[in-house]
Amino acid sequence: MTKASNIPIENNIQVCPTQEQASETTAQLIADVIKAKQELGQVAVLGLATGNTPKLVYKELVQMHKNQGLTFKNVVSFNLDEYHGITPDHKLSYHRFMREYLFNHVDILPENIHLPFGTWKKNRIGQHCIEYEEKIKHYNGIDIQLLGIGRNGHIAFNEPGSPFDSVTRLIDLHPFTRNDAADEFGGLDKVPTQAITMGIHTIMNAKRILLLALGKRKAEIIKKTFESEMTPQIPATFLKARPDIEYIFDTEAASLL
Ligand code: PGA
Repeated sequence: MTKASNIPIENNIQVCPTQEQASETTAQLIADVIKAKQELGQVAVLGLATGNTPKLVYKELVQMHKNQGLTFKNVVSFNLDEYHGITPDHKLSYHRFMREYLFNHVDILPENIHLPFGTWKKNRIGQHCIEYEEKIKHYNGIDIQLLGIGRNGHIAFNEPGSPFDSVTRLIDLHPFTRNDAADEFGGLDKVPTQAITMGIHTIMNAKRILLLALGKRKAEIIKKTFESEMTPQIPATFLKARPDIEYIFDTEAASLL
């Protein structure tokens, strides 16, 4: 697609006619960072998301790897979150999601992949979370962070009530979030009650942040996020503290703006 087919609302918001085009635009921005870092002989540190939103982005990145020679050899990745209490092989774990949609199909080095583990023992989680933050710092921070948004305004699993200065931690999942996941888990009682998530502060430290929202289901929360003052009740409103955040929507997600 060409950028000319997008309708700019403001400089940092791109509205694309379709979900495919919004995803392609997002994938291209990520690929550009990977390539720019390659030219400098540096690693590209990607902050990655899971869920329905990034699926087509990953599909596009895989196509770029297969057809255009985009290599992930210089990529280091940090995922936003993982359900607590499930193993990396659980069919709904984010470890498995990332392998299925991206890692198994590109040449990223396994040692460069980082996700929180749902198997971390409760009495060690605090320490593991500190180490996760330290690893991000070790790589000089995240170069480009991909974000989706939950219908309750969460980013990663920073549920309503999450403070601005929060870092990687164990969190109780909001009933809204658990309800949204009930179908895929085969019933609400099977949905984990907790997750490990990067914090708002962790996310806001990324050098670049892309928020991608697709589909009619996201239109209401996008409108609320843009209209509301910053509040922990809608964690995505904290993104307003960074005027440089790039929003990429399809027409449906942007339809109430
Ligand atoms: P979704 O979830 O991509 O599956 O819509 C986004 C989120 O909850 O952050």
